[in-house]
Amino acid sequence: MTTQSGSDPVIRAYRVHDNGRFGEGRLETMTRAEFDHGNVVVRVAYASVNYKDALTARGRAKIARKFPLVAGIDLSGTVEESTDARFKPGDEVLTHSFGLAVDHDGGYAEFGRFPADWLIPLPQGLSLFDAAALGVAGHTAGLAIDLLQLNGLKRDSGKVLVNGATGGVASIAIDILSRLGYHVAALTGKSEEAGYLTALGATEVLDRNAMEFGTRPLETMLWAGALDSVGGEQLAWIARTMQKDGVIASFGNAGGVEFKGSVLPFILRGVRLLGVNVDNPLERKKAIWQRLATDLRPRHLDRIARRIAFETLPQAFDDLLAARVCGRMVVDFSLR
Ligand SMILES: NC(=O)c1ccc[n+]([C@@H]2O[C@H](COP(=O)([O-])OP(=O)(O)OC[C@H]3O[C@@H](n4cnc5c(N)ncnc54)[C@H](OP(=O)(O)O)[C@@H]3O)[C@@H](O)[C@H]2O)c1
Repeated sequence: MTTQSGSDPVIRAYRVHDNGRFGEGRLETMTRAEFDHGNVVVRVAYASVNYKDALTARGRAKIARKFPLVAGIDLSGTVEESTDARFKPGDEVLTHSFGLAVDHDGGYAEFGRFPADWLIPLPQGLSLFDAAALGVAGHTAGLAIDLLQLNGLKRDSGKVLVNGATGGVASIAIDILSRLGYHVAALTGKSEEAGYLTALGATEVLDRNAMEFGTRPLETMLWAGALDSVGGEQLAWIARTMQKDGVIASFGNAGGVEFKGSVLPFILRGVRLLGVNVDNPLERKKAIWQRLATDLRPRHLDRIARRIAFETLPQAFDDLLAARVCGRMVVDFSLR
């Protein structure tokens, strides 16, 4: 933040403006007078780059519900001011979802104001960087694994497929699952990243471009569990190749939103398809964050996530939309 004499300090921000369609983003500055509603001002330390952020910034989907909108669906930082008794200056916090970067300003600004009800105290065992490196992606991975476990997936159930493997959510999921002792098969369109995926703990790496997906309603049974970032035809193939009583966590649409498949895997093999959505009440979110700080804590966050300067966000969005990114990018506001 820089101060112009006699005026409100200038805050670097990436905001999305109305363009008559879904919006258009740009790097710019804003002032405190433009803060969104809330009772806690946070100095943002880190904010991650997610697929949804790229869609919003590039106006590829109807996500922004107000203009101008500070993009960035998650953040971690330090409380600067608070009129809520639960938070005081210096407290370390994180937040995501709750309409962040949808109908409330998000994390791509050096400072922001947020309702105290949306803030999660940084769990012990995580740094501010860890919290953003995990961010919505880590939370989604943790939630998906929590749901798979609640639905009976155990280490000895069989192999677990992670699709869209080099993506943010998937990379973290591979790391967590391998830490928990699962046999993880990573399915990727980037076979050149096989070394990265095995370093995270994948037991085997499958090259999407070299695979035959078949069309039969029931294919050879391969997976006890699956986490899918991609959707579309890939998700239909996953359903066809699940073992008896297999469980799928579907959270992404990086490859398409259509889902055309047979019901036979569900009615003849008892396959369960679980929807995963991170927009949960605060207490559920806190419980998943507690697991991410303890038994689900990834071992390779420094390998998965790299810091980028705020000014490089536009390039980051393009890279993400073109599936050129391996792992996660985290805006570090201290980088110039
Ligand atoms: N349900 C929820 O609450 C929730 C929360 C967070 C994220 N999501 C969704 O989950 C998905 C993954 O998020 P993310 O942040 O991990 O995204 P990401 O980092 O961009 O990863 C997506 C990955 O999907 C794979 N992919 C396959 N086909 C693709 C295509 N046509 N275009 C782009 N990527 C393709 C790529 O991995 P490979 O090359 O290795 O295959 C890519 O790296 C997104 O759809 C996101 O919107 C949902």
